[in-house]
Parts: sequence; structure tokens; C-alpha cells
Amino acid sequence: MERKFIMDTSGKTITCRAAIAWKTGSTLAIEEVQVDPPKAREVRIKMISTGICGTDDHAVKGLLSVNFPFIPGHEGAGIVESIGEGVSSVKPGDKVLTLTIPQCRECSSCLHPKGNFCEKQDVLPSSGLMLDKTSRFTCKGKKIYHSFRASTFTEYTVVPEIAVAKIDAAAPMDKVSIISCEVSTGYGAAVNSAKVTRGSTCVVFGLGGVGSAIVMGCKASGASRIIGVDINEEKFPRARALGVTDCLNPRNLKKPVQQVVMEMTRVGVDFAFEAIGLSDTMIAAWDSCHWSYGVCLIVGVASSNSQLSLNAPDIISGRTLKGVCLGDYKTRDCIPQLVTDYLQNKINIDPLITHQLPFDQLHKAFELYHAGKTIRCILLF
Ligand code: APR
Ligand code: ZN
Repeated sequence: MERKFIMDTSGKTITCRAAIAWKTGSTLAIEEVQVDPPKAREVRIKMISTGICGTDDHAVKGLLSVNFPFIPGHEGAGIVESIGEGVSSVKPGDKVLTLTIPQCRECSSCLHPKGNFCEKQDVLPSSGLMLDKTSRFTCKGKKIYHSFRASTFTEYTVVPEIAVAKIDAAAPMDKVSIISCEVSTGYGAAVNSAKVTRGSTCVVFGLGGVGSAIVMGCKASGASRIIGVDINEEKFPRARALGVTDCLNPRNLKKPVQQVVMEMTRVGVDFAFEAIGLSDTMIAAWDSCHWSYGVCLIVGVASSNSQLSLNAPDIISGRTLKGVCLGDYKTRDCIPQLVTDYLQNKINIDPLITHQLPFDQLHKAFELYHAGKTIRCILLF
């Protein structure tokens, strides 16, 4: 008879490995941490995989409003280890994704048909605390902050139930973590938020993980021309394979990139996307749009306290400027469907994953990211 020894950890503090950003700009340190059991309406997750997103890098560098020391990472897939009192939407053993934007189903955003930026979010700014204003992480006797309702660079994490999405039991857990951010953010911005139309022209600023997922969404929506903009030309071949028709490196142009896009399209694009997080490229995206019906979507997260300055009189011509987070999806309701769509071959996320490394090779993964070699590197626990 087969005998299985499953250690019951529920209700107990778990000691495990996690990456900690101790102070602004310091290299992440893999440490032994204590993870408390989940309190009421909280879920403790055993992480299986997590992607490295541009936002994590920005947070570690101190470009976003976060509290140090904290455990970064927000793009995660895992299995529920235990649940706190009153949790009803998931149970131990369920496969789940972490959600940077929760869905409480009670706040003004959640109750509005178009809203997805739940009031229980912890991004703008990030307190790094659970909803009861305490933390579940300790290292060397010191309180460690969470980040973005997720903290996935750890073998175990605790998140509020409203920031967890149960996914299909058949989901390949070494890959689907990217659906929790990169895919929903990028693909969703094109397909769900902009609703890119057949035969339209698009420009995508930034051809990293998020930009590549935007390109996929534009292509899937039938865009006839997709202009890709990046300062790293190593990103061009893959972008072309995903559907980019024209590649531009702003550093090799004699004119501002928006002027080149205007000349290429004669009238400006139908849809412009910014997936870098810089105000200059946001303005370039805005100025690449058709002045009357163009739609500019800001997908990149700008650094805290940065400002966006636009020519005021020009706004009256009719262009739309829209911010979008996680593709405007109501996260718990919609993101699991993207996993199912992947399992049913309706979307293919595989080309977005360029590297997979064990969690203890985190530093190598960040080196590859900084060298511009990755679209997405997934860390495996
Ligand atoms: N002009 C054009 N391209 C640029 C510029 C610039 N000034 N600066 C950086 N890039 C390119 C990089 O070469 C890279 O290919 O933008 C891309 C950014 O991609 P990633 O670093 O892979 O980041 P990603 O995970 O895609 O996130 C992009 O979206 O979610 C947000 O916070 C995230 O702001 C970040 C953005
Ligand atoms: Zn809400």
C-alpha cells in the first residue's frame, strides 16, 4: 500500500526561503523567513512559479511607493496550503493565481460595471500590510512588508482572499503565473480595454514582456499594422514573430519617434500603447494617435511623483487618453478565464516565456532581465 506523508502545516508558522529587498536599490537577498498562518479571510499559498515583471524591478529600485524591507514579486501561481476563517472561494489544494488588484465586490470600483481598480488595492501607494494593517512575514526577528497584495518571491505567501483567483485544475503551473500580470495587463489592454478593431493601425512603446503581450492582443484583434518601438533592437525579431510589422529604435531616428509614426501612417494610429512607464514615451504615444479618434492607453507604471505634461489646447481635438491596469478585467471574475482560454488553445502564452530558472538563481534571472535578454523569466520553486 502506498503511504503518503503530508506534513500538516495549517495553523502553524512556516519557515521557508524568500527574497527580501532590505533597502532601496540593494541586491535582493535570499533569506530564511517565518510566514504566519492566514488570519480570517486570508489564504496561505505554496508558490510554484513567479515571473519577473518590470514593476518588481522598479519597486526594488525604490521608484515606486513601497515600504522596505519587503518581499517583492506579484506575478504568481501556486497551490493553497491553508485558509483562514471565513474563506469560501478557495480551499487547500486549489491551484490559484495571485492578483495585484483584488476584487472585493463591495467597493465603488467593483460595483461599477466598468471599474476594476478595487479600493482594497495596495499599489498606489503600497502600505505593504494586510487589510488588518499587520504583516505575516518576519525575518531575523524583524517585520517584513508585503508588496502589492501579493509578495511572490517566497516559497509561501499570505494574501487576502479577495486577491486570489482559483484556476483550472489542469493549468500548467510552471507557466500560468504570467497570466496573473503580463498576459492580463498586455493582452487585456488591447483586447478588453482598447478593443482594438480589425484593420486598425497600432503602435506599442516598449517590447518587453507587457509590450509583447499587447502586440499579441493587437494581432489577435486583426490590426493590420503594428509598429513596435524599443531602444533594445534585440527585442525586434521576437516582436516581429508576434505580429509587429515595423520596428523603430528612437535612438536611431533623426526626428522624434512620434513624428516618424505620423509620417508612416499619414494620419496617426488608431491605438497607441505605452508599456515602459516613462512620461516621455507616454507623451510620444499620445502624439502618435490620430488627433480626432485615436486612443492612447497608458499601461506602464510611472515612477512615484512623476508628472505628465500635455499640450492643453490639442486635447480638444478628440483623442482619448486612458490608463489601464490588468486589462480593465474584474480580476477574480475574468482572469481565470484567460487560463482556460490558454488550455483550450484560444491564446498562446508560450512565446512570452523566454527563460525558466530555479528560485535560487534569482540573481542570474535579474542579470538577464537587466541585460535586456528576457521577455519573461519565470522562477520555479
Ligand atoms: N524607449 C523605448 N523603449 C524603452 C525605453 C525608451 N525610452 N526605455 C526602456 N524601453 C524598453 C526596454 O528596452 C524593454 O524592452 O521597454 C521595455 C520594457 O520592458 P520590460 O523591462 O520587460 O518591462 P515589462 O515587464 O514589460 O513592464 C513594462 O509595464 O507593468 C508595467 O511597471 C511595468 O512599467 C513597466 C511596464
Ligand atoms: Zn473592490
